[in-house]
Amino acid sequence: MIVNGRHYRTIWLNADGWSVDIIDQTRFPHVFGTATLRTPEEAAAAIKDMLVRGAPLIGVTAAYGIALAMRQDSSDAALGSAYQLLVKTRPTAINLKWALDGMTRVLTPLAVTDRAAAAYARAAEIAEEDVAINQAIGRNGVAIIKAIAARKGPGETVNILTHCNAGWLATVDWGTATAPIYTAHDAGIPIHVWVDETRPRNQGASLTAWELLHHGVPHTVIPDNTGGHLMQHGFVDMAIVGTDRTTAQGDVCNKIGTYLKALAAHDNGVPFYVALPSPTIDFSVMDGVREIPIEQRGGHEVSHLTGRTDDGRIETVEIVPRGSKVANYAFDVTPARYVTGLITERGVIAANRAALAAAFPERAAQ
Ligand code: MRU
Repeated sequence: MIVNGRHYRTIWLNADGWSVDIIDQTRFPHVFGTATLRTPEEAAAAIKDMLVRGAPLIGVTAAYGIALAMRQDSSDAALGSAYQLLVKTRPTAINLKWALDGMTRVLTPLAVTDRAAAAYARAAEIAEEDVAINQAIGRNGVAIIKAIAARKGPGETVNILTHCNAGWLATVDWGTATAPIYTAHDAGIPIHVWVDETRPRNQGASLTAWELLHHGVPHTVIPDNTGGHLMQHGFVDMAIVGTDRTTAQGDVCNKIGTYLKALAAHDNGVPFYVALPSPTIDFSVMDGVREIPIEQRGGHEVSHLTGRTDDGRIETVEIVPRGSKVANYAFDVTPARYVTGLITERGVIAANRAALAAAFPERAAQ
Protein backbone atom coordinates (compact mmCIF):
# COMPACT_ATOMS: atom_id res chain seq x y z
CA MET A 1 0.00 0.00 0.00
CA ILE A 2 1.05 3.59 -0.54
CA VAL A 3 2.20 5.69 2.44
CA ASN A 4 3.30 9.27 1.76
CA GLY A 5 3.77 8.44 -1.92
CA ARG A 6 5.91 5.36 -1.30
CA HIS A 7 4.86 1.73 -1.69
CA TYR A 8 5.20 -0.21 1.54
CA ARG A 9 4.68 -3.73 2.65
CA THR A 10 4.68 -4.50 6.37
CA ILE A 11 7.85 -6.60 6.21
CA TRP A 12 10.77 -6.68 3.78
CA LEU A 13 14.41 -7.62 3.50
CA ASN A 14 16.77 -4.81 4.47
CA ALA A 15 19.18 -3.42 1.86
CA ASP A 16 21.97 -5.37 3.63
CA GLY A 17 20.37 -8.51 2.17
CA TRP A 18 19.85 -10.40 5.45
CA SER A 19 18.23 -8.37 8.25
CA VAL A 20 14.48 -7.86 8.18
CA ASP A 21 12.66 -4.53 8.30
CA ILE A 22 9.16 -4.12 9.67
CA ILE A 23 6.69 -1.31 10.23
CA ASP A 24 6.55 -0.78 14.01
CA GLN A 25 2.84 -0.96 14.79
CA THR A 26 3.15 0.04 18.45
CA ARG A 27 3.47 3.70 17.53
CA PHE A 28 0.39 4.18 15.35
CA PRO A 29 -1.52 6.28 14.50
CA HIS A 30 0.66 9.21 15.43
CA VAL A 31 4.10 7.94 14.42
CA PHE A 32 4.92 5.91 11.29
CA GLY A 33 8.19 4.17 12.13
CA THR A 34 10.12 1.08 11.15
CA ALA A 35 12.38 -1.33 13.03
CA THR A 36 15.05 -3.83 11.99
CA LEU A 37 15.18 -7.44 13.18
CA ARG A 38 18.61 -9.07 13.26
CA THR A 39 18.17 -12.16 15.42
CA PRO A 40 15.47 -14.75 16.10
CA GLU A 41 15.16 -13.23 19.58
CA GLU A 42 14.35 -9.84 18.04
CA ALA A 43 11.79 -11.46 15.73
CA ALA A 44 10.20 -13.21 18.72
CA ALA A 45 10.10 -9.97 20.73
CA ALA A 46 8.54 -8.09 17.77
CA ILE A 47 5.72 -10.64 17.68
CA LYS A 48 5.23 -10.85 21.44
CA ASP A 49 5.31 -7.07 21.99
CA MET A 50 3.12 -6.57 18.91
CA LEU A 51 5.42 -4.43 16.79
CA VAL A 52 3.98 -6.83 14.23
CA ARG A 53 0.57 -8.36 14.75
CA GLY A 54 -2.32 -9.83 12.80
CA ALA A 55 -2.33 -13.56 12.10
CA PRO A 56 -0.78 -13.58 8.58
CA LEU A 57 1.97 -11.11 9.45
CA ILE A 58 2.82 -13.01 12.64
CA GLY A 59 3.36 -16.10 10.45
CA VAL A 60 5.61 -14.32 7.96
CA THR A 61 7.67 -12.70 10.75
CA ALA A 62 8.16 -16.09 12.39
CA ALA A 63 9.33 -17.52 9.06
CA TYR A 64 11.92 -14.76 8.79
CA GLY A 65 12.82 -15.41 12.45
CA ILE A 66 13.81 -18.93 11.40
CA ALA A 67 15.86 -17.50 8.51
CA LEU A 68 17.69 -15.20 10.94
CA ALA A 69 18.37 -18.18 13.18
CA MET A 70 19.69 -20.30 10.29
CA ARG A 71 22.07 -17.53 9.31
CA GLN A 72 23.66 -17.74 12.77
CA ASP A 73 23.63 -21.51 13.13
CA SER A 74 21.88 -23.94 10.80
CA SER A 75 22.17 -27.08 12.91
CA ASP A 76 19.13 -29.23 13.83
CA ALA A 77 19.48 -28.02 17.41
CA ALA A 78 19.37 -24.35 16.37
CA LEU A 79 16.34 -24.97 14.14
CA GLY A 80 14.57 -26.69 17.02
CA SER A 81 15.30 -23.97 19.54
CA ALA A 82 14.30 -21.15 17.14
CA TYR A 83 11.01 -23.02 16.53
CA GLN A 84 10.39 -23.27 20.29
CA LEU A 85 11.28 -19.62 20.88
CA LEU A 86 8.96 -18.35 18.14
CA VAL A 87 6.00 -20.70 18.57
CA LYS A 88 5.51 -19.56 22.17
CA THR A 89 5.22 -15.86 21.35
CA ARG A 90 1.45 -15.75 20.77
CA PRO A 91 -0.83 -18.73 21.30
CA THR A 92 -4.00 -18.04 19.31
CA ALA A 93 -3.16 -17.14 15.69
CA ILE A 94 -2.51 -20.49 13.97
CA ASN A 95 -0.57 -18.89 11.09
CA LEU A 96 2.40 -18.80 13.48
CA LYS A 97 2.55 -22.58 13.87
CA TRP A 98 1.58 -23.10 10.22
CA ALA A 99 4.56 -21.01 9.05
CA LEU A 100 6.99 -22.59 11.50
CA ASP A 101 5.89 -26.13 10.61
CA GLY A 102 6.26 -25.26 6.91
CA MET A 103 9.77 -23.91 7.46
CA THR A 104 10.76 -27.00 9.43
CA ARG A 105 9.38 -29.30 6.71
CA VAL A 106 11.43 -27.52 4.04
CA LEU A 107 14.67 -27.16 6.03
CA THR A 108 15.00 -30.44 7.90
CA PRO A 109 15.90 -32.66 4.89
CA LEU A 110 18.48 -30.15 3.58
CA ALA A 111 22.22 -30.16 4.14
CA VAL A 112 23.13 -27.76 6.94
CA THR A 113 25.07 -25.58 4.47
CA ASP A 114 21.97 -25.04 2.31
CA ARG A 115 19.54 -24.15 5.07
CA ALA A 116 20.06 -20.40 5.49
CA ALA A 117 19.47 -19.60 1.79
CA ALA A 118 16.50 -21.97 1.66
CA ALA A 119 15.00 -20.39 4.79
CA TYR A 120 15.15 -16.88 3.32
CA ALA A 121 13.69 -18.17 0.05
CA ARG A 122 10.78 -19.95 1.77
CA ALA A 123 10.04 -16.95 4.03
CA ALA A 124 9.92 -14.70 0.95
CA GLU A 125 7.62 -17.20 -0.75
CA ILE A 126 5.23 -17.23 2.24
CA ALA A 127 5.15 -13.43 2.06
CA GLU A 128 4.37 -13.48 -1.67
CA GLU A 129 1.71 -16.14 -1.17
CA ASP A 130 0.06 -13.96 1.47
CA VAL A 131 -0.21 -11.04 -0.95
CA ALA A 132 -1.67 -13.26 -3.69
CA ILE A 133 -4.16 -14.85 -1.25
CA ASN A 134 -5.35 -11.44 -0.07
CA GLN A 135 -5.78 -10.16 -3.62
CA ALA A 136 -7.91 -13.23 -4.38
CA ILE A 137 -9.96 -12.60 -1.21
CA GLY A 138 -10.45 -9.06 -2.52
CA ARG A 139 -11.71 -10.31 -5.88
CA ASN A 140 -14.04 -12.86 -4.29
CA GLY A 141 -15.34 -10.51 -1.60
CA VAL A 142 -16.02 -7.59 -3.90
CA ALA A 143 -18.71 -9.65 -5.62
CA ILE A 144 -20.70 -9.60 -2.36
CA ILE A 145 -20.30 -5.83 -2.02
CA LYS A 146 -21.30 -5.36 -5.67
CA ALA A 147 -24.46 -7.42 -5.14
CA ILE A 148 -25.44 -5.33 -2.10
CA ALA A 149 -24.71 -2.11 -4.05
CA ALA A 150 -26.90 -3.32 -6.93
CA ARG A 151 -29.72 -4.12 -4.52
CA LYS A 152 -29.49 -0.70 -2.85
CA GLY A 153 -29.56 1.18 -6.12
CA PRO A 154 -27.36 3.61 -8.06
CA GLY A 155 -25.30 6.04 -5.97
CA GLU A 156 -26.31 4.42 -2.66
CA THR A 157 -23.45 3.81 -0.23
CA VAL A 158 -22.72 0.30 1.06
CA ASN A 159 -22.02 0.46 4.80
CA ILE A 160 -19.58 -2.17 6.05
CA LEU A 161 -18.69 -2.78 9.69
CA THR A 162 -15.29 -4.20 10.63
CA HIS A 163 -13.61 -5.10 13.89
CA CYS A 164 -9.96 -4.87 14.94
CA ASN A 165 -7.44 -4.56 12.13
CA ALA A 166 -7.57 -7.23 9.46
CA GLY A 167 -6.07 -4.68 7.09
CA TRP A 168 -2.82 -4.54 5.19
CA LEU A 169 -0.97 -3.87 8.43
CA ALA A 170 -2.10 -7.29 9.69
CA THR A 171 -0.78 -9.02 6.57
CA VAL A 172 2.05 -8.41 4.12
CA ASP A 173 -0.20 -6.26 1.90
CA TRP A 174 -3.90 -5.66 1.11
CA GLY A 175 -5.27 -7.20 4.32
CA THR A 176 -7.93 -9.87 4.48
CA ALA A 177 -11.14 -8.12 5.60
CA THR A 178 -9.99 -4.92 3.92
CA ALA A 179 -9.07 -6.51 0.58
CA PRO A 180 -12.72 -6.55 -0.65
CA ILE A 181 -13.12 -3.04 0.77
CA TYR A 182 -10.09 -1.64 -1.09
CA THR A 183 -11.08 -3.52 -4.24
CA ALA A 184 -14.63 -2.10 -4.09
CA HIS A 185 -13.40 1.42 -3.38
CA ASP A 186 -10.85 1.27 -6.21
CA ALA A 187 -13.63 0.06 -8.55
CA GLY A 188 -15.70 3.14 -7.74
CA ILE A 189 -18.38 1.44 -5.64
CA PRO A 190 -19.49 3.93 -2.97
CA ILE A 191 -18.64 2.41 0.39
CA HIS A 192 -18.36 3.59 3.96
CA VAL A 193 -16.73 1.61 6.77
CA TRP A 194 -17.80 1.58 10.41
CA VAL A 195 -14.54 0.98 12.29
CA ASP A 196 -14.89 -0.60 15.74
CA GLU A 197 -12.27 1.05 17.95
CA THR A 198 -11.42 -2.42 19.38
CA ARG A 199 -10.46 -2.00 22.98
CA PRO A 200 -8.20 -2.60 24.73
CA ARG A 201 -5.41 -2.04 22.18
CA ASN A 202 -7.54 -0.02 19.78
CA GLN A 203 -6.36 -1.69 16.58
CA GLY A 204 -9.47 -0.35 14.83
CA ALA A 205 -9.05 3.26 15.94
CA SER A 206 -5.29 3.41 15.49
CA LEU A 207 -4.57 1.00 12.60
CA THR A 208 -7.69 0.40 10.48
CA ALA A 209 -8.73 4.05 10.58
CA TRP A 210 -5.18 5.10 9.63
CA GLU A 211 -5.15 2.68 6.70
CA LEU A 212 -8.55 3.73 5.39
CA LEU A 213 -7.68 7.41 5.77
CA HIS A 214 -4.49 6.94 3.74
CA HIS A 215 -6.36 5.03 1.04
CA GLY A 216 -9.16 7.61 0.92
CA VAL A 217 -11.92 5.22 2.00
CA PRO A 218 -14.78 7.01 3.81
CA HIS A 219 -15.04 5.66 7.36
CA THR A 220 -16.22 6.45 10.86
CA VAL A 221 -14.61 5.19 14.07
CA ILE A 222 -17.16 4.00 16.62
CA PRO A 223 -16.87 2.83 20.23
CA ASP A 224 -17.04 -0.95 20.37
CA ASN A 225 -20.52 -1.04 21.82
CA THR A 226 -22.15 0.98 19.01
CA GLY A 227 -22.50 -1.73 16.34
CA GLY A 228 -25.72 -3.25 17.69
CA HIS A 229 -27.49 0.11 17.65
CA LEU A 230 -26.34 0.83 14.09
CA MET A 231 -27.55 -2.57 12.92
CA GLN A 232 -30.97 -2.11 14.54
CA HIS A 233 -31.41 1.12 12.58
CA GLY A 234 -30.36 -0.27 9.19
CA PHE A 235 -27.04 1.57 9.07
CA VAL A 236 -24.96 -1.57 8.45
CA ASP A 237 -25.31 -3.56 5.20
CA MET A 238 -22.72 -6.18 6.03
CA ALA A 239 -19.89 -6.97 8.42
CA ILE A 240 -16.49 -8.29 7.33
CA VAL A 241 -13.96 -9.35 9.97
CA GLY A 242 -10.70 -11.26 9.96
CA THR A 243 -9.75 -14.39 11.86
CA ASP A 244 -6.81 -15.73 13.85
CA ARG A 245 -7.90 -19.34 13.62
CA THR A 246 -10.89 -20.97 11.97
CA THR A 247 -11.70 -24.56 12.87
CA ALA A 248 -12.54 -27.50 10.62
CA GLN A 249 -16.25 -26.92 11.31
CA GLY A 250 -16.04 -23.17 10.59
CA ASP A 251 -15.95 -21.68 14.10
CA VAL A 252 -14.12 -18.37 13.86
CA CYS A 253 -11.68 -17.13 16.48
CA ASN A 254 -10.93 -13.43 16.15
CA LYS A 255 -10.25 -10.34 18.24
CA ILE A 256 -12.27 -10.08 21.45
CA GLY A 257 -15.68 -8.58 20.76
CA THR A 258 -16.16 -10.21 17.35
CA TYR A 259 -18.67 -12.68 18.83
CA LEU A 260 -20.89 -9.88 20.18
CA LYS A 261 -20.96 -8.25 16.73
CA ALA A 262 -21.90 -11.57 15.14
CA LEU A 263 -24.77 -11.97 17.63
CA ALA A 264 -26.04 -8.48 16.89
CA ALA A 265 -25.72 -9.12 13.14
CA HIS A 266 -27.65 -12.38 13.47
CA ASP A 267 -30.45 -10.69 15.43
CA ASN A 268 -30.75 -7.97 12.80
CA GLY A 269 -30.37 -10.04 9.64
CA VAL A 270 -27.07 -8.33 8.75
CA PRO A 271 -24.76 -10.62 6.71
CA PHE A 272 -21.65 -11.43 8.75
CA TYR A 273 -18.66 -12.45 6.62
CA VAL A 274 -15.22 -13.61 7.66
CA ALA A 275 -12.22 -13.10 5.37
CA LEU A 276 -10.25 -16.32 5.70
CA PRO A 277 -6.86 -17.00 4.10
CA SER A 278 -6.30 -20.78 4.07
CA PRO A 279 -3.22 -20.72 6.36
CA THR A 280 -5.61 -19.55 9.11
CA ILE A 281 -7.64 -22.78 8.96
CA ASP A 282 -6.78 -25.25 11.69
CA PHE A 283 -8.13 -28.59 10.53
CA SER A 284 -6.88 -30.24 13.74
CA VAL A 285 -9.48 -28.38 15.80
CA MET A 286 -13.26 -28.78 15.56
CA ASP A 287 -14.95 -26.96 18.45
CA GLY A 288 -13.47 -23.48 18.59
CA VAL A 289 -15.02 -22.46 21.91
CA ARG A 290 -13.58 -25.45 23.75
CA GLU A 291 -10.37 -26.13 21.88
CA ILE A 292 -8.72 -22.86 20.81
CA PRO A 293 -6.29 -21.40 23.38
CA ILE A 294 -7.28 -17.79 24.06
CA GLU A 295 -4.38 -15.44 24.73
CA GLN A 296 -4.63 -13.42 27.92
CA ARG A 297 -2.51 -10.30 27.85
CA GLY A 298 -1.25 -7.93 30.52
CA GLY A 299 -3.70 -5.82 32.50
CA HIS A 300 -1.84 -2.65 31.60
CA GLU A 301 -3.55 -2.69 28.18
CA VAL A 302 -6.91 -2.42 29.94
CA SER A 303 -6.04 -0.10 32.80
CA HIS A 304 -4.09 2.42 30.69
CA LEU A 305 -4.55 4.33 27.44
CA THR A 306 -1.92 5.96 25.26
CA GLY A 307 -2.63 8.91 22.99
CA ARG A 308 -1.53 12.31 21.76
CA THR A 309 -2.15 15.42 23.81
CA ASP A 310 -3.36 18.62 22.16
CA ASP A 311 0.20 19.99 22.26
CA GLY A 312 1.56 16.91 20.47
CA ARG A 313 3.02 14.84 23.29
CA ILE A 314 2.41 11.05 23.34
CA GLU A 315 1.30 10.16 26.85
CA THR A 316 -0.04 7.14 28.70
CA VAL A 317 -2.69 7.62 31.36
CA GLU A 318 -4.38 5.34 33.86
CA ILE A 319 -8.16 4.99 33.50
CA VAL A 320 -9.01 2.37 36.13
CA PRO A 321 -8.86 2.90 39.90
CA ARG A 322 -5.73 1.38 41.40
CA GLY A 323 -6.82 -1.72 43.24
CA SER A 324 -9.54 -2.75 40.76
CA LYS A 325 -8.83 -6.03 39.00
CA VAL A 326 -8.77 -6.10 35.19
CA ALA A 327 -9.05 -8.97 32.71
CA ASN A 328 -7.62 -8.98 29.19
CA TYR A 329 -8.84 -11.85 27.02
CA ALA A 330 -7.49 -11.05 23.57
CA PHE A 331 -9.78 -13.22 21.40
CA ASP A 332 -13.19 -14.87 21.34
CA VAL A 333 -14.87 -17.50 19.21
CA THR A 334 -17.89 -16.96 16.97
CA PRO A 335 -19.63 -20.28 16.36
CA ALA A 336 -20.03 -21.18 12.68
CA ARG A 337 -23.83 -20.80 12.85
CA TYR A 338 -23.46 -17.01 13.05
CA VAL A 339 -21.16 -16.76 10.03
CA THR A 340 -22.87 -15.99 6.71
CA GLY A 341 -19.86 -17.01 4.64
CA LEU A 342 -16.09 -17.39 4.61
CA ILE A 343 -14.40 -15.26 1.96
CA THR A 344 -11.38 -17.35 0.96
CA GLU A 345 -8.86 -17.24 -1.86
CA ARG A 346 -10.83 -20.08 -3.48
CA GLY A 347 -14.22 -18.40 -3.32
CA VAL A 348 -16.92 -17.61 -0.77
CA ILE A 349 -17.81 -20.79 1.07
CA ALA A 350 -20.19 -21.85 3.83
CA ALA A 351 -18.84 -22.02 7.37
CA ASN A 352 -19.12 -25.78 7.80
CA ARG A 353 -16.97 -28.87 7.77
CA ALA A 354 -18.00 -30.18 4.34
CA ALA A 355 -17.50 -26.86 2.57
CA LEU A 356 -14.07 -26.24 4.14
CA ALA A 357 -12.85 -29.76 3.38
CA ALA A 358 -14.15 -29.52 -0.20
CA ALA A 359 -12.46 -26.16 -0.80
CA PHE A 360 -9.13 -27.14 0.80
CA PRO A 361 -8.86 -30.95 0.44
CA GLU A 362 -5.05 -30.95 0.60
CA ARG A 363 -5.10 -29.15 3.96
CA ALA A 364 -7.99 -31.17 5.38
CA ALA A 365 -6.11 -34.41 4.65
CA GLN A 366 -2.88 -33.36 6.47
O1 MRU B 1 -4.05 -9.10 18.57
P1 MRU B 1 -3.92 -8.82 17.10
O2 MRU B 1 -3.88 -7.38 16.76
O3 MRU B 1 -2.81 -9.61 16.47
O4 MRU B 1 -5.28 -9.39 16.50
C1 MRU B 1 -5.53 -9.32 15.13
C2 MRU B 1 -6.87 -9.83 14.75
O5 MRU B 1 -7.66 -10.23 15.56
C3 MRU B 1 -7.16 -9.87 13.27
O6 MRU B 1 -8.52 -9.68 13.04
C4 MRU B 1 -6.74 -11.24 12.73
O7 MRU B 1 -5.42 -11.52 13.07
C5 MRU B 1 -6.88 -11.33 11.27
S1 MRU B 1 -5.68 -10.36 10.46
C6 MRU B 1 -5.84 -10.50 8.80
